[in-house]
Amino acid sequence: METVLSGIRPTGNLHLGNYFGALSNFVKMQHEHNCYFFIADYHSLTTHPNPENLHNNVKMVLAEYLACGLDPNAATIYIQSDLPETAELYLLLNMNAYLGELERCTSFKEKIRKQVENVNAGLLTYPTLMAADILIHKATKVPVGKDQEQHLEMTRNFANRFNHIYKTEYFAEPVAFNFGKDLVKIPGLDGSGKMGKSEGTNNAIFLIDEPDVISKKVMRAKTDTGPTQQNQQKPEEIQTLFDLMKIMSTPNTLSYFEDKYNACEIRYGDMKKQLAQDIITFTSPIREKIKEIASDNAYLKKVAKIGAEKAKESGAKTVKEVREIIGFKSF
Ligand code: TYM
Repeated sequence: METVLSGIRPTGNLHLGNYFGALSNFVKMQHEHNCYFFIADYHSLTTHPNPENLHNNVKMVLAEYLACGLDPNAATIYIQSDLPETAELYLLLNMNAYLGELERCTSFKEKIRKQVENVNAGLLTYPTLMAADILIHKATKVPVGKDQEQHLEMTRNFANRFNHIYKTEYFAEPVAFNFGKDLVKIPGLDGSGKMGKSEGTNNAIFLIDEPDVISKKVMRAKTDTGPTQQNQQKPEEIQTLFDLMKIMSTPNTLSYFEDKYNACEIRYGDMKKQLAQDIITFTSPIREKIKEIASDNAYLKKVAKIGAEKAKESGAKTVKEVREIIGFKSF
């Protein structure tokens, strides 16, 4: 049995990228392994949400986790700040993390470009906090999307460095995990790369989006005037639609539109209508469950409490052992 862990920052509602990158893989593993899924609210402070949003977002994301099939009886579902031991492990790992490697991290470089007015130390040390999340439960498998690959590599470096410095084999190496052989990157609807919460509202399809909103977003996606040669290579925005269709629609539907494209007979309007319909069919039951669970405060409170207790049991043990390894001793 392996220990599996993953998490999502509560900076907005969950979108299809979060679902297919992290959640769906985790849900498949939760009954066979020792599983932790948490809400990374400390991490969300690197982009400074205001206090009202912070709690509401955490609550919404918890409801969304449950609606997507995370089972509190199988997995430990918890909120990062309910396990403050994480912050201590983060501090200890930071002592052996070097400025150069943190500055070279792709997500740091991206963030300092995007939020020039708020280049805080939390952004720089984001990867050590993430390593603390993973190592505190000694997780070895981490279901994530492609964008997290480098963070996992850094976590392995921090774990190995800790073992080396303190002459121990305490931490095992965690790996980014997906059931398919490759980590996934779900494209955003604007054809500019990945689906993300901060890429503008028309880029992402959120699990909570109503059918008319989904239709509008998909119909608005950029297309070109169509192929002029048979089997022509697809430009990025067109490839995006096909990539989304590959995930959301049946293989028959996908090959129907592939054939139409290759024969220069594609009607993008028809393709988008079909894609929107398939997304709506997929998200509708989840959306209804999110609404139901989000209105049940007592249930959410119970889930968070049980999760915090279970997380504490595992996290406090690790931090105690790490303190002993480093040499902190009580008189
Ligand atoms: P976050 O909140 O940006 O994203 C949460 C998860 O969703 C995946 N994801 C995607 N996967 C595929 N295609 C996309 N377009 C897409 N967009 C998002 C991400 O890869 C991620 O798995 N640093 C993490 C949160 C975190 C964490 C951890 C994850 C903190 N500590 C420990 C795992 C283990 C983050 O910002 O994810």
